[in-house]
Amino acid sequence: MGGTPGMVNSDAISFFRGAQLRTVTLSDRLSSVIQPFIQEVLDQLSALGNFGQAILSAAQNHQPIVEQFFELNPNQVETSFSLQPQCLFPKANPILALEYRNARYPAFLVPAGSWTINDEATLPDLQHLLYLCGQSKLSYDQICDQVAAPMVALLDHWIASRIVKPQSLSPYTPPPAGVFRLQHATLLYRTRTTGILIDPHLHSSYGLPQLEQDVTRAKLEGCVDAILISHSHYDHWHCPTLMMFDRGTPIVVPKVPRGSITCDDMQARISSLGFKQVIAVDWNSEPIQIGDMEVYVLPFYGEQPLVPGYDQPKYPELRNWGNTYLIRYEDYSSWCLVDSGMEPAASMIEVAQQVTQRFGSVDQIISNFQGLSYNSIGRDLSRWGVDIVANLLSNPQILALTNTEAGSYLATVGPREVAEICAIVGAKSCLPYADSGAELGQPSIHDGILIPQVEAELRRLGCPTQVIPWAIGDGYLPSLQLCKHFFND
Ligand SMILES: [Fe+2]
Repeated sequence: MGGTPGMVNSDAISFFRGAQLRTVTLSDRLSSVIQPFIQEVLDQLSALGNFGQAILSAAQNHQPIVEQFFELNPNQVETSFSLQPQCLFPKANPILALEYRNARYPAFLVPAGSWTINDEATLPDLQHLLYLCGQSKLSYDQICDQVAAPMVALLDHWIASRIVKPQSLSPYTPPPAGVFRLQHATLLYRTRTTGILIDPHLHSSYGLPQLEQDVTRAKLEGCVDAILISHSHYDHWHCPTLMMFDRGTPIVVPKVPRGSITCDDMQARISSLGFKQVIAVDWNSEPIQIGDMEVYVLPFYGEQPLVPGYDQPKYPELRNWGNTYLIRYEDYSSWCLVDSGMEPAASMIEVAQQVTQRFGSVDQIISNFQGLSYNSIGRDLSRWGVDIVANLLSNPQILALTNTEAGSYLATVGPREVAEICAIVGAKSCLPYADSGAELGQPSIHDGILIPQVEAELRRLGCPTQVIPWAIGDGYLPSLQLCKHFFND
């Protein structure tokens, strides 16, 4: 990535390679506490083959957890089994801690840490510290001059834990106009004057710590004018990254009618961090103008633990609430589908038809290519973040379908649906996305399998959309060229 001549602060504090941060909420803690019980329900189901017996057998070994947090009527075990309403819809879901570690170092050499949040009123102070470090141009003394004493103490902890360090960094040049594929689900849309990030994860607990190079917060300084969040799954929703940006940055989030263990009230959460422009609008509202880009908030269907026959959550508000985003600039349009797909009552195929009626064609589709179902989770919950447990408990009876035909109902678009959507909206190009991270310059793990599958489906439909293979860190420019290695050191 090109630096430009200019003032370089040789001892500017910025985030260290391998630094990983995450916030922990009350619901996160609860999900961690109940996960072993839900895991045992799955294990017992595998052994006994009967859902009701599996619940009762697992409950015997987790009695305190069941009594404290679950509803279970012995006469209607299978249908009554659920988290209690006060756990599904906690009255308050505060951030309890910010955890940090540098994953490139063993814990005995460089200790991990946790900053306890006793009072949510202090979150804007924490946000300010993260922002000042994220800018990557202020010295230790300059930061200390701008924060309160507890934040100086935290900064000292971070230096000791190799979360931040003084570094000599040249200012970075903003990327050219185009869309850039960053790690996993993060995208950066750029015009000549404006930048929009989607689902940013930087120095994140979801990052791959052993990468030779990565997209850092420092490399994005000065090129982000707004942030869009698609949904609150952990791999898309990372509060520490958001806190690294100026609190005047507009942040667009899904509108959540009632915060739950399944879906954080993202608008309330970001406001509590001190952000001033938090935007949560209805699907299909008038566009949001960000510089010279228009952002259209479109429906997000799919990726719910719902299948035909088990097609209702325990309560209607228990959804994975999300947005898909169509971004227009000049005469170019790009629709990012994130993890959307199908659910029994609605699908993105129908949304694509509505999009065509509203916008005519769409130039570009950026989408996950891997169709995922309930069965894709498998029987080992430890492979996933605890947000999976929280999502499944919006419809706990779906656990009965583990590894059954009904459990294979696709919840996110796969090659067939991606191709169909491209055909409906008349897309010129289609790009894979949100399929894990990789070294800069490398594709993600499933691209090699999924891209030919999407191409085959497009051929089957007689659709001329071109699938563009691109690697992490690549940009796809309006000239239809790839911009490679822009974010390399
Ligand atoms: Fe998701």
